[in-house]
Amino acid sequence: MTRHTPHRTEPATPLPRLTIAVTGATGTIGSRVAARLAPHHHVRAVTRDPEAAERRGVAGEKIRADFTDRRALRPALAGADALLLITSDPLRPDHDETLLRTAREQGVRHVVKLSALAVTDPGAQDLITRWQRRCEALVRDSGLPWTLLRPRAFMSKALDWIPSVRTEGVVSAVYGTSRNSCIDPDDIAAAAARVLTTPGHAGRSYALTGPQALSAREQTDLLARRLHRPLRFRELTCDQAWELWRRRYPEPIARAIAESARRQQAGAKEHVTDGIRQLLGREPAPFTDWAARHAPRFR
Ligand SMILES: NC(=O)c1ccc[n+]([C@@H]2O[C@H](COP(=O)([O-])OP(=O)(O)OC[C@H]3O[C@@H](n4cnc5c(N)ncnc54)[C@H](OP(=O)(O)O)[C@@H]3O)[C@@H](O)[C@H]2O)c1
Repeated sequence: MTRHTPHRTEPATPLPRLTIAVTGATGTIGSRVAARLAPHHHVRAVTRDPEAAERRGVAGEKIRADFTDRRALRPALAGADALLLITSDPLRPDHDETLLRTAREQGVRHVVKLSALAVTDPGAQDLITRWQRRCEALVRDSGLPWTLLRPRAFMSKALDWIPSVRTEGVVSAVYGTSRNSCIDPDDIAAAAARVLTTPGHAGRSYALTGPQALSAREQTDLLARRLHRPLRFRELTCDQAWELWRRRYPEPIARAIAESARRQQAGAKEHVTDGIRQLLGREPAPFTDWAARHAPRFR
């Protein structure tokens, strides 16, 4: 009979099974965090549409709640060891207020807020950044142990290019040579999972970027190499970009995005941080990795 010898790095005792509430659980980051945590912990995935979330394969126990509905939020938050707080509407600051009030009332032990790196830039005074700053202040003043995650732009924004890449082999963007130290959403999710499940993060803020700043033009070249086909970059004028944003967003949001793009043009988003290394003990994934994993969607 062979005897199993535990590998040296195996923990002597299993990690405790935690109850973790995730809001925005069907979104880019929340769905990835739920998928990472669900095999080891009890995940409560908050969504307005549990049936749709189930069909899409969102992990965890789906709990129906709107961010405005305290009564519906209670079972999601009751006694949770941690809450990943993800909200997404800068025109609704009341969402964070309601969530935090309910979290306090329901005895949540740790709140981890998905914020944005722009909050640290005094030059960033657009509506979205002001909203994130205010939400961060609500978290700090909530009386609950808190941690702030401040990512730069998600690499997944490049998914917006799928239709024009497929049909014309073209990527269009404004300020095409301006650089952003964008980050792989999987790295943000891994960082969030670490902070939600390990001690020592209360009262800390983490600046999360990718390993290098890239422009849309450079991303286009890297994507073309990965797809083994030529892609053309088309620089949008400010008017053209404004029209696109206005078609997609309410005017105040479009205005904030335009301001944010101008800050990027001025070089405000090139800085690279070591937040991922601090939290995960490894380098953040480069855009080429993200492009390799998502290449089939561009074909
Ligand atoms: N995108 C970027 O490059 C970037 C960069 C830095 C920071 N951020 C920050 O990241 C956050 C957004 O994260 P994300 O992109 O992962 O989110 P997301 O994909 O936009 O998803 C947000 C989720 O929130 C849920 N939701 C929206 N309104 C709700 C309501 N009234 N009640 C209950 N649920 C509601 C929706 O779920 P259901 O429809 O299932 O209810 C949705 O799936 C924002 O705070 C943003 O500022 C983004």
